[in-house]
Amino acid sequence: MGWLGTPTIRLETCESTNDEAERLAEVGAAHGTVVIADLQTNGRGRQGRVWQAPATNGLFWSCVLRPSIAPAEVAGLTLAAGIAACHAVRAMGVGATLKWPNDLVITGPHGLGKLGGILVESATRGNALDHVVVGIGINLGSAPSDIAHATCLAAHGGSDNRDELIGVLTAALESWFEVFFKRGVAGLAEAWLALAERRYALLVTHQGSRHHGVLAGLSPEGLLLVELPALGTTLAVRSGEVEVGEAIA
Ligand code: BTN
Repeated sequence: MGWLGTPTIRLETCESTNDEAERLAEVGAAHGTVVIADLQTNGRGRQGRVWQAPATNGLFWSCVLRPSIAPAEVAGLTLAAGIAACHAVRAMGVGATLKWPNDLVITGPHGLGKLGGILVESATRGNALDHVVVGIGINLGSAPSDIAHATCLAAHGGSDNRDELIGVLTAALESWFEVFFKRGVAGLAEAWLALAERRYALLVTHQGSRHHGVLAGLSPEGLLLVELPALGTTLAVRSGEVEVGEAIA
């Protein structure tokens, strides 16, 4: 075993593996400490959203990282985790793609379904980064009923073997975190863009108006670069400024 997952703490149940990892980080948990729960009773998603899944059917995985990066660079960890999670899910037999900034998705009969997501939370000391908690949730045998458009690996013919997924995911995360620590977002861009979902139009809100956009790349900070043909320009957008529109015929 490499540095990621040493140690690994397996819990039968907890409210949120991100909260458990944060609690451990505050009392000095090492870089690479992993927390995994079989059941999570109060999981959190981005922007205060709820993240729930029934017992035995989800992966609830978090780690503590203590990287030598600036607080402004933390967004790159979401991209690195996304690449790793997408590769891991593909190894389980499901052709997932990535929806910026943090969604693991798959196209189904009713449009884009959400297989999983990533929640990165950081703590600073003064102006410096102290630690980061990277949390990953992937729906295995069933999808949470309380999340819109949620789906799961089993619904797409994939294996829902949690331990197998933990093995491939941990190995992939360790490699992609190392790429990011050495080369920043520039080291991730090609792999992330190769996995990006491109079958849907992007709708970008810019100066009060909505425009159709085309995925053009990633900025050095990890923002999404979207070309707006109607305006003849390419913008770096933040998460509240872009949404997925209609499927591209
Ligand atoms: C999102 O899509 O908004 C992110 C979802 C992240 C869910 C995972 S499950 C493991 C970890 N613990 C949490 O409370 N959240 C993350």
